Amino acid sequence: MHVAVMGAGYVGLVTAGGLADLGLMVTSADINQERIQRLGEGKVPIFEPGLEELVRRNTQAGRLSFSADIQSAVRNSLVIFIAVGTNGGLNGEPDLSQIWSVADSIADSMEDYKVIVTKSTVPVGTAAQLRERISSRLERPVEFDVVSNPEFLREGSAVEDFFHPNRIVIGSPSGRAVGIMKDIYQRLYLNETPFVITTCETAELTKYAANSFLALKISFINELANLCDAIGPCTDIHVIGRALGLDGRIGSKFLHPGPGFGGYCFPKDTRALCTTARKFGVNVRTVEAAVEVNESQYLRVVEKVRQGLGGLADKTVSVLGLSFKPNTDDVRESRAVRICEALRSEGCTLQVYDPVAMAASASVLNGHAVKYCANAYEAAEGADALVTATEWNEFRALNLEKLKAGMRGDLLVDAKNAMDAAKAKEAGFRYYGMGRR
Ligand code: UDX
Repeated sequence: MHVAVMGAGYVGLVTAGGLADLGLMVTSADINQERIQRLGEGKVPIFEPGLEELVRRNTQAGRLSFSADIQSAVRNSLVIFIAVGTNGGLNGEPDLSQIWSVADSIADSMEDYKVIVTKSTVPVGTAAQLRERISSRLERPVEFDVVSNPEFLREGSAVEDFFHPNRIVIGSPSGRAVGIMKDIYQRLYLNETPFVITTCETAELTKYAANSFLALKISFINELANLCDAIGPCTDIHVIGRALGLDGRIGSKFLHPGPGFGGYCFPKDTRALCTTARKFGVNVRTVEAAVEVNESQYLRVVEKVRQGLGGLADKTVSVLGLSFKPNTDDVRESRAVRICEALRSEGCTLQVYDPVAMAASASVLNGHAVKYCANAYEAAEGADALVTATEWNEFRALNLEKLKAGMRGDLLVDAKNAMDAAKAKEAGFRYYGMGRR
């Protein structure tokens, strides 16, 4: 079976590589010629563990190719996955312009039956609008079905998530299209991956519901961590999180406190769910609260630095970790970057280091009062305080004595509770965690 994946971003590339690995003939198509050319040369423009190898393996096997020729990609494929960006403004309205532009190209190129699948996260009703838009643009009648098949890929573990999904959600009113989709995911199906077959609208809403629920868990544990801080060192958020997680009804995942959730999906999807709900006359107050809690959570970290140093003006602060989470160079809505911006606006000079997100963060944090360092030790040199803002594994392996010896001060604010508090104290740090002292 031939399929096309429109959009060679992280979702599109992982999907294309994954589908090729399942034995399909895949064209990864994108209007960005330069990106396509680089991919053709084996250069993957995204930092995503395992992706380069996945792309290389399937390109060499002749199952995966790259093309900027959208027309032939559509003509040669039975199934067309749409995996373009939908990032919107802060008002929570996703920007669907790329979806419509791909839809128009598909309509202009279709000659026989196609299954058109939205992988991108899109508001409820988008699949129906897509069907309408393509139908009205077709110059002669061509049969096609529309499917909503949302992705649940975590950045940094997207390849792993593709091959080991918790579930595959397929929304479509067409039995024929559902059959083709099941055929595609057959190999995963044999591994007993559960399918959830439903309407397009339910599938679309499920994606927002999943991300919003996880966001709720994070904001909940963050508020509890703040409460632990207020009560004092006799409480420990990690013990509470563990006890909660041992209750199978709650589950142990996404109960790690920190400076709040960031990245491409959670902030966008929670806001979009609230906006959609309001359009239907409903306030999803739990999700609104989760968003509100998240907006100020990073300031807790800034407060800890202020308290620990007795003020922020003219202080030098070392920030380790800039990406929104480990194993990615993505700094979109990164709380680490927010922390940097807040510290700087209060008069701090920053010395920052991240294993892979230095270039990406340089484009959002401009050069003013920021020194980009080659490693954590250089970043700590002469600093009054050290903030660990993203839980990269390499930070856990740092020699804390060496780190401390290079500093002017002794404050360690561990925004992700990633460091060993007892060892940090042994090394001479005054350690401030989140919800644990
Ligand atoms: C998320 C979803 O997990 C994925 O299924 C979806 O399709 C895309 O969005 P991603 O944005 O890559 O994936 O990151 P994720 O691992 O979910 O983390 C999101 C944010 O929450 C990060 O900022 C992370 O640091 C934060 N987080 C996560 C916490 O603060 N605490 C936790 O316990 C878990």
